Amino acid sequence: VGALGDAAAAKGRYFGTAVAANHLGEAAYASTLNAQFDSVTPENEMKWDALESTRDSFSFAAADRIVGHAQSKGMKVRGHTLVWHSQLPGWVGGLGATDLRSAMNNHITQVMTHYKGEIHSWDVVNEAYQDGSSGARRSSPFQDKLGNGFIEEAFRTARTVDADAKLCYNDYNTDGRNAKSNAVYDMVKDFKQRGVPIDCVGFQSHFNSNSPVPSDFQANLQRFADLGVDVQITELDIEGSGSAQAANYTKVVNACLAVTRCTGITVWGVTDKYSWRSSGTPLLFDGDYNKKPAYDAVLAALGGS
Ligand code: G3I
Repeated sequence: VGALGDAAAAKGRYFGTAVAANHLGEAAYASTLNAQFDSVTPENEMKWDALESTRDSFSFAAADRIVGHAQSKGMKVRGHTLVWHSQLPGWVGGLGATDLRSAMNNHITQVMTHYKGEIHSWDVVNEAYQDGSSGARRSSPFQDKLGNGFIEEAFRTARTVDADAKLCYNDYNTDGRNAKSNAVYDMVKDFKQRGVPIDCVGFQSHFNSNSPVPSDFQANLQRFADLGVDVQITELDIEGSGSAQAANYTKVVNACLAVTRCTGITVWGVTDKYSWRSSGTPLLFDGDYNKKPAYDAVLAALGGS
């Protein structure tokens, strides 16, 4: 389908990007997307506030536009995300435990049913751990009212709905070995030992000068893979420019290629123009859709030309 996607496919991987539905009508955006990528992740359109802003009333139109575009171009779709503390409509936080449990399971069920067979991997739970040295869970309506078991429950529900989608846990600042990634590691290990259905771990990989590509990135991916899950780089962007940025992208691609169970890479946007880092330039195409040195580095690392 696209240059990066084709090069990745030759290595048995996918190469995707986050996509926003409201940019699909922009010719340069669509043509860059179509020319390069073979997987898309809706940047906001599959989040709880976008899909179910009112309880049990679902609006799939914007997400459907992205899925339809992807399918018409032969691209795969990553689902992002079913259970997350952020971009959560207010009504969810107001529920008591019993209601919240059924709302969570209903949300997972309705959304995964709507997209059954159309999503290669779902971020079932996103960002459930705190930053810092505690390795503790993050406060959220799910954590605070349902307790530690909410993650396991979400994965078990997800498996019953779509047995073919890969079920991922996704987080940031877990890209190297640290207290947070150790806590996620322990959870995944426990899930595998007890037969809780989990297939993959997503490493968001939002890097900047405060949070550079860790020197043990590959080793960290490998230790998760050794637990018997796939690993995916799910939201890659790297602040910077020129050859320094390009070298960091090369490191990330090489780390994925060196880990057999690293099944794909997604960058968090097509162009710097629409990056969530509003003043930054963390992506592969500049604001005018020109290829940056980082693009050439990624293509070369994938073995493409
Ligand atoms: O859609 C509304 C629009 O109606 C309103 O007028 C406007 C005014 O602020 O806001 C628009 O919503 C914004 C939305 O993006 C769509 O553009 C939100 O304010 C804004 O907060 C939201 O930001 C998103 C962010 O997640 C929210 O947490 C970013 O686009 C998105 O890139 C970012 O993605 C997250 C991943 O999901 C999880 N990992 C971290 C990553 C980066 O923060």
